[in-house]
Amino acid sequence: MRVLVIGSGGREHALVWKLSQSPHCQQMFVWPGNPASLRLASKLDIPVDASFEDLATSALLAGVDLVVVGPEGPLSHGLADVLEARGLKVFGPKKNAAQLESSKVFAKRIMTEAGIPTAAYEVVTSQDDCHDCAIRILNRDGGVVLKASGLASGKGVFVCQNEDDVNQGLKRLYNESMKEASEQIVIEEMLFGREVSYFCFIGQGGISRIGFAVDHKRLLIGDKGPNTGGMGCYSPVPWLPGDAADQVDSLVVNPLLKTLRKYGIQYTGCLYVGLMWGDKGPSVVEFNVRLGDPEAQVLAISDQTDWLPLIASKVGLSAKREPHHTLALPVMGYVMASSGYPFGDKQDVDANVPWSLLDDKSDGAAVFCGSVKNSDGGIRTGSGRVFLVAASGKTFSEAKSKACSRIDKIRDVWPDAQWRSDIGQPVLQYEESLQRSVTRSPIVLGSSSPRRRELLGNLGLEFTVMKPDTEEVPRLGEDPTDYVARNAREKNEWICALIGPTHPQGVIVISADTIVVIDGKILEKPLNPSDAKDMLSMLSGRVHTVMTAVRIASVNPSGVHKVKEFTVNTEVLIKNLSGNEMDRYIATGEPFDKAGGYAAQGLGSFMVQEIRGSFSNVVGLPLSEVGDCLQISFGVPLWRDR
Ligand code: AMP
Ligand code: GLY
Repeated sequence: MRVLVIGSGGREHALVWKLSQSPHCQQMFVWPGNPASLRLASKLDIPVDASFEDLATSALLAGVDLVVVGPEGPLSHGLADVLEARGLKVFGPKKNAAQLESSKVFAKRIMTEAGIPTAAYEVVTSQDDCHDCAIRILNRDGGVVLKASGLASGKGVFVCQNEDDVNQGLKRLYNESMKEASEQIVIEEMLFGREVSYFCFIGQGGISRIGFAVDHKRLLIGDKGPNTGGMGCYSPVPWLPGDAADQVDSLVVNPLLKTLRKYGIQYTGCLYVGLMWGDKGPSVVEFNVRLGDPEAQVLAISDQTDWLPLIASKVGLSAKREPHHTLALPVMGYVMASSGYPFGDKQDVDANVPWSLLDDKSDGAAVFCGSVKNSDGGIRTGSGRVFLVAASGKTFSEAKSKACSRIDKIRDVWPDAQWRSDIGQPVLQYEESLQRSVTRSPIVLGSSSPRRRELLGNLGLEFTVMKPDTEEVPRLGEDPTDYVARNAREKNEWICALIGPTHPQGVIVISADTIVVIDGKILEKPLNPSDAKDMLSMLSGRVHTVMTAVRIASVNPSGVHKVKEFTVNTEVLIKNLSGNEMDRYIATGEPFDKAGGYAAQGLGSFMVQEIRGSFSNVVGLPLSEVGDCLQISFGVPLWRDR
């Protein structure tokens, strides 16, 4: 495939980097690009201020199959519409859908109509109304948020806690430079919770999840100083509930797409959902119609999926169905910005940074370039956000130390850089508390399943839960028994490698994997309602096998000492299910995180006619066998902690 990425920032450098690694990429183009992205791609030979029509002509002449648009500006001015009218395939929404970002009034109206959780709001069109309305909400709630409806490069939102803040905000919003963006002002109630962003790719074949990330908007350490475009971020987000993506899809993305369709608007492209995650779950702060910067750079490293066939399938270029990936490495990303950022009121002192330093492979970090200029043997720093230095690790703290080692080297040649060393503080603390908790109770359940957690609790033991980041994909021709055992082993090895080196007292790690097998075919968790229906139809009126493979190992800094592995099979007879019963059961949402598409212990119990073998095995952990193994092989008495 011949691919063109549009844009010139760090986000587009990351897109070029990620897409050009794909075996499906035949040739990579970027326009206008920057000195770093242009090292990985060919340039279209047109000026930076070329019209959309000239851009289309140039892309067609270059034989481009797929155009991926980075920034929101051109999308909101109809770039996708022009390119598509000329026969190009474009990943990026058309002008009518791009209004989700370019008009906050539009986004709020659609959200209200779709019943999407978001802050209550009012729209005003004059400075006097804006003042009166803001003061009324401020006096009622103790806080209020003022937002220019139009695009304002992150400078149009004012979170106000007192009258002074409101007056300051009004002054900026009604400044000449904001005239267009501030024609309408959205006044919102304050939301409380933790900010997090969700990214998905949308188009043909529905929604594909990319992941969650947390950006740090304020300039200075400790979340102080002015707002910026983002000073660094981390992904994935371990403090979210396990079903966070399901919640966002069902409460936000699906109702949004349905309501857009009502107005004849199709969405193709990346959707960035800015959320406030509160006690009651997610509430939408904003929509963006593109990847974030610096989130794109961090997600490109964290997400192990090849984005090119995925994006191509969204625009109808390939029917290839992508496996639902689960593998997301912990990644930390740090922005290095010029000394005057974000106001440009200080004279930036440029620095020369050699390619050898940016390309260095020795520390495992990667550098993406934003505001940079060409220089001999490297780049010259520009003004604004210059680099995003990111690294992955088994843990966030490992990722941090890799990235920071590169930052230190860059600071040697560019001491004026501004950067925040406190990116991801909450996840680093979370990791530390996990380590402490393992020290207190040295049994670790390596599983994210809430059902396994509940089952193991029934043995009266205290334990720590850790989520292994391994992928569950059967190999070609792999026998179900081998597959389930391999999954349990890989999860176990992953946790042992992570936790063993730091726990001299020794840790017992329990992991398991459960699959449903019928006619030699493995049924995993259904991807969508039609997948769930296929599975339930297959199980209806028949006996199937539920297999759980278990691996228990003891580990300390000198390595793994004892390993026990076993697989337990249970036969389950499902009654004859009518189409209506299946549809109603699927509509409850229960099937989606369950192998085989049903929960024998939940609403799905209505269909379970007979069970031969361990019941807890069907739920996810064969307790009798696990209890015996812990007592006999590892010397852990049951109900020890009761
Ligand atoms: P936006 O451009 O709408 O994402 O707003 C920029 C930033 O303002 C967000 O990232 C939040 O930190 C903050 N913000 C926006 N809306 C609200 C709200 N309703 N309540 C609290 N904070 C908000
Ligand atoms: N990092 C925030 C954004 O891209 O909008």
